[in-house]
Amino acid sequence: MNHAHAQVTLVISTRNAHKLGEIGAILGPSFRCFSLAEFPGAPSVVEDAKTFEGNATKKAVELAKWLATFEPRDLPAGSAFVLADDSGLEVDALNGAPGVNSARFASASAHGNSPDSENNAKLLSLLNGKPSEQRTARFRCVLALTRLPESNPAATSPVCMADEAEFGVELFPGTCEGRIAFAPQGKGGFGYDPLFIPEGMERSFAELGEDVKNGISHRARALEKLRKRLIG
Ligand code: IMP
Repeated sequence: MNHAHAQVTLVISTRNAHKLGEIGAILGPSFRCFSLAEFPGAPSVVEDAKTFEGNATKKAVELAKWLATFEPRDLPAGSAFVLADDSGLEVDALNGAPGVNSARFASASAHGNSPDSENNAKLLSLLNGKPSEQRTARFRCVLALTRLPESNPAATSPVCMADEAEFGVELFPGTCEGRIAFAPQGKGGFGYDPLFIPEGMERSFAELGEDVKNGISHRARALEKLRKRLIG
């Protein structure tokens, strides 16, 4: 990812390569982003909270706790943060579903993600017969940010590892309103992008391409708040 002109270091708590790519592209060179690919031993987080806020917080805190158990050589002390993204699609005609279950909508298991094509097919079949005005929806993203401890707490206290209470979390929400198409449109993006037509447009996120999407998406709006908070 991007290491030039670094000011703020972020370890991004996701294994979703698409999210990671979007976050890196939107934040640009003022941020030095590490991914979980660079921390292969990082724990997998069970996303069992009922809200985006809860799951984003869990992903940020669990990774920060794990990182606090050692001192990664190339994370500069004092300026490093963990950033987690929890996001999904809320469809009004489905009372907000798939919501926090967006990644596993078509899956029989509560925790196993399902392929994007199956999630999209399930969404279309549930909306079968609904006219355009009943297909309103929004993408939501909640970013959770927590600062990494400046030194390894294990090194100063043999007993007390960093616990959850030590990690103050700041949340940054972002929303993008739109509607669900009648069939998949376009090949770009990921997840529900081929079915999501942002408000005021006729083409889906998958057709509009990453530059347009990254200017108006739920993730872009949340990241803009994060950027203001971290570098003004
Ligand atoms: P998470 O890992 O629980 O946050 O899962 C997010 C899921 O929501 C993804 O797997 C997608 O199905 C969906 N999603 C979130 N953001 C987007 C987006 O920008 N485009 C398309 N689908 C998205």
